[in-house]
Amino acid sequence: FKDDGSKPALDPADPTFVLDPEFRPKTKHNEFLESQNDQIPVIDLAPLTSNDEEAVRKVIQEIGKAAEEWGFFQVVNHGVPLELIDRLEKEAVAFFTLSLEEKKKICRTFDQPVGYYNAELTKNHRDWKEVLDYLVRGSVVLPDESNTTTLSITNRWPQNPPGLREAAEVYAKSTEQLAYRILELLSQSLGLPAEYFHKYFENHASPVRINYYPVCPIPDLALGVSRHKDPSAFTILVQDEVGGLQVRRSDGEWIGVKPRRGAFVINIGATFQMWSNDRFKSVEHQVVVNENRARLSFPMFFSPASSTDIEPAPELLSESSPARYYPMNYGYFMRKRNDGNFKQYGEDIQIE
Ligand code: SIN
Ligand code: FE2
Repeated sequence: FKDDGSKPALDPADPTFVLDPEFRPKTKHNEFLESQNDQIPVIDLAPLTSNDEEAVRKVIQEIGKAAEEWGFFQVVNHGVPLELIDRLEKEAVAFFTLSLEEKKKICRTFDQPVGYYNAELTKNHRDWKEVLDYLVRGSVVLPDESNTTTLSITNRWPQNPPGLREAAEVYAKSTEQLAYRILELLSQSLGLPAEYFHKYFENHASPVRINYYPVCPIPDLALGVSRHKDPSAFTILVQDEVGGLQVRRSDGEWIGVKPRRGAFVINIGATFQMWSNDRFKSVEHQVVVNENRARLSFPMFFSPASSTDIEPAPELLSESSPARYYPMNYGYFMRKRNDGNFKQYGEDIQIE
């Protein structure tokens, strides 16, 4: 609680933060396995700016392997300037340490699902986090459920700190460029042309989230984000040095993603799992919080335009490898997912 008696954004006495035992974290935010085999792959993108075709081919191969085996990897030497990340970190801290009343001036509403929020649920579990959501392209017009009216969403920015908006916008622009590059490498690793999936992103409205996980007095009972999979094509994020992101490995073990300054963490979402007809895996992950330090992360959920239809790439199908998914409109898919109980696609794509 703040000394001035103002309300905290998250109240540790609120019982909704306490998870059932089976969902609680098993390891701490800063526990990492030592062996290289127990860490998600770290891929150096430096060869992409060289003329060394063989080295580029190797990068493509590494990325494909990581997407298949882990559904998660980190990239370094990616071209996004470190100073953009530092700048957004400073602005984000300045924003989230304002009073709750001040932050709520740009609080998310039903009609405007962008801005500040402190009551996020993941899979119906309350998250120990505060967020500021925005769209990489500033605004979007979406059809509503019945397809008869539209919803127009425009980013909302606080007056304070005055530099947050620009820091967030330049971060998003630069990260979007990297996302396109990753999209191309993933396509190539499947044997498809680099620009194969570009058409899905012409009118994309990928959201970016500034996550702030405050210090948590009950880190063994609660989570910053409960276990879930992402619906995006893939998610591309920077985390600070605190640690807390954990990935569920195929053997069921929760593996901590070791922070690397300036690296991007990339994880495959349901969309790419479908496009690749299950060659790439969308994998469960969660965020562990701690008693000592607040944590920041900045994910961009790189997602196709809601008007596009998602289906396995026909080039990847054969008699022995028939389509595992039928075409589905991405906007519909997202709405169904938000309904919370979408099992049409079998166990693996319970789009959580
Ligand atoms: C998320 O999966 O939504 C957040 C990941 C993170 O904070 O590292
Ligand atoms: Fe996620």
